[in-house]
Amino acid sequence: MPFECDVITLFPEMFNAITQYGVTGKASRNTVFQLNTWNPRDFTHDNYRAVDDSPYGGGPGMVMMAQPLEDAIIQARTRQIALGIEKTKVIYLTPQGKRLDHALVKQLSTLPGFILLCGRYEGIDERLIMRQVDMEISIGDYVVSGGELAAMILIDCVVRQIPGTLGDPESANQDSFVDGLLDYPHFTRPESYQGSRVPEILMSGNHAHIHRWRLQQTIGRTWLKRPDLFELKFAHGMTVEEEKLLEEFKQSCKSR
Ligand code: ADE
Repeated sequence: MPFECDVITLFPEMFNAITQYGVTGKASRNTVFQLNTWNPRDFTHDNYRAVDDSPYGGGPGMVMMAQPLEDAIIQARTRQIALGIEKTKVIYLTPQGKRLDHALVKQLSTLPGFILLCGRYEGIDERLIMRQVDMEISIGDYVVSGGELAAMILIDCVVRQIPGTLGDPESANQDSFVDGLLDYPHFTRPESYQGSRVPEILMSGNHAHIHRWRLQQTIGRTWLKRPDLFELKFAHGMTVEEEKLLEEFKQSCKSR
């Protein structure tokens, strides 16, 4: 069964960016996941098809009204229930949400599907959030102009984890963050580019040596570029071999 993804959005066409291009485009064509959009504007009952109004208490901007959003969510829920997904989660993309990381992506990718709620303007009437939202997710501590980009980021990283998306089943397991560490560096032809050569070890054909070098780069680069991740990963200490790899890496930094 495909991963069922229903999105509540005023800008459904934006989602062509993930259903028509690249890895997620292929996954969509192969029905690894199914994306359905619901436009709250289609659930309005006034002549202007208004989805927003000014905030009670004053202040800048507009607020999305509860009713068109709630009716759209109910339709999306009904669709998921018809597919056998009884207790689907409604996720609101907002800077106030839980920060998205690899652990959360993995967790979400085990669900049969979800409903994503994309806000625009200053926000959404709080009563709609209380009534319908199960979970709030943020893509980081900054503000984008609407939930759509955040929803697409979420869908992309969740879909990558679903078997059948990536050609080589090992690829998702070798990405950065999978093991709490960054990825190792990659090289391709030519052997020499602008005077800079591919590390000799990668040309050696010795897979044990290559594996060791890559592990060293993974540990070393995390230490160098993301001390926060490094601390988390090795909070309970390093193995003798890991310490040795890191020490060598530090020496190689000095000798550069
Ligand atoms: N909408 C606006 N900014 C956002 C963010 N950082 N994460 C999720 N949704 C958002």
